[in-house]
Amino acid sequence: MKAIEWLGDRVKVLDQTKLPIKEAYLELSRYQDIASAILELKIRGAPAIGVAVGYGLALGALKIKTGTPDNFRRELKAVSRALAATRPTARNLFRALERMERVAEKGEDVERIKQALINEAIAIHNEEAEATLKLSKLGAELLKDGSTILTHCNTGPLATAGYGTALGVIRQAFEHGKKLKVFATETRPLLQGARITAWELKQLKIPFTLITDSMAGYFMSKGEVDCVIVGADRIALNGDTANKLGTYTLAVLAKEHAIPFYVAAPLTTIDPALASGDEIPIEQRSPDEVTHIQGVAIAPAGIEAANPAFDVTPNKYITAIITEGGIIREPYGEGIKKYFREVIT
Ligand code: MRU
Repeated sequence: MKAIEWLGDRVKVLDQTKLPIKEAYLELSRYQDIASAILELKIRGAPAIGVAVGYGLALGALKIKTGTPDNFRRELKAVSRALAATRPTARNLFRALERMERVAEKGEDVERIKQALINEAIAIHNEEAEATLKLSKLGAELLKDGSTILTHCNTGPLATAGYGTALGVIRQAFEHGKKLKVFATETRPLLQGARITAWELKQLKIPFTLITDSMAGYFMSKGEVDCVIVGADRIALNGDTANKLGTYTLAVLAKEHAIPFYVAAPLTTIDPALASGDEIPIEQRSPDEVTHIQGVAIAPAGIEAANPAFDVTPNKYITAIITEGGIIREPYGEGIKKYFREVIT
């Protein structure tokens, strides 16, 4: 299940829009192709987007012809701006670009800078993969043997270009012998749960039941959900968390039913510059994604439809945030600052 693979002068990606019907791979050699793939959700999930833009910037750098460092840096800025303009919510995207840009600022030999950028992109990928494995191991302790876990959207290897976040935690607990059952929400409008999480859970042989988003309350009210675990696209300093639309609804429902609600994310998803979730930019996508499913109209033509891609869950609904640095609980600001200082540079 390799979401993204660096092939030296191009990137191989699994086209996530074709799943589960087809396992189609794309080979992308231009940064513009990476940007389009992210926009179209062929590559998706916050950590995977971060990894992809790292490689995207490296590909852009390889195509720049000038040998003058200042001109090179100017052209590279344009590449970075194009990649940054793809999806506004995932913090990992901007963090990866900032890291790559810092590398580009050093040195006077353009060929060496290009190589350093490739090395940095590979390092971002490796570190993101390690972080997701580590947080999955830490988080697995929270899942009780015999429990049923509800998860939303897709947070496995394909969303992370690594091990997984929420799904990684479930996977670790399962691989260590805990008997678990999963409810996977279909995740309208783009069905990341039905198409991708179901595909991954099936391959991992983890028992699961696919439900529509609106069934969550029914199963919680019947006492059939022991905990909820989701990923994140951006987490503010106070722990408020932006994740796939519908996460907030699940968190409110979980609180009403006294069900623990966990968020799992690498520290690269945290944005300590934002005091609260109110400051997190929320991507608004095309209404066509709501009025159509896989290109087929399911609503009358010409109507209005809304399509915010994420919502923000206030910290008061979150039982704990699982990161590779440790499990953070209230007060989130202190824990976040501590792990950020210790683990991330
Ligand atoms: O719009 P998407 O499919 O990129 O949204 C993905 C999510 O919301 C995931 O839950 C989030 O990125 C965490 S992935 C490990």
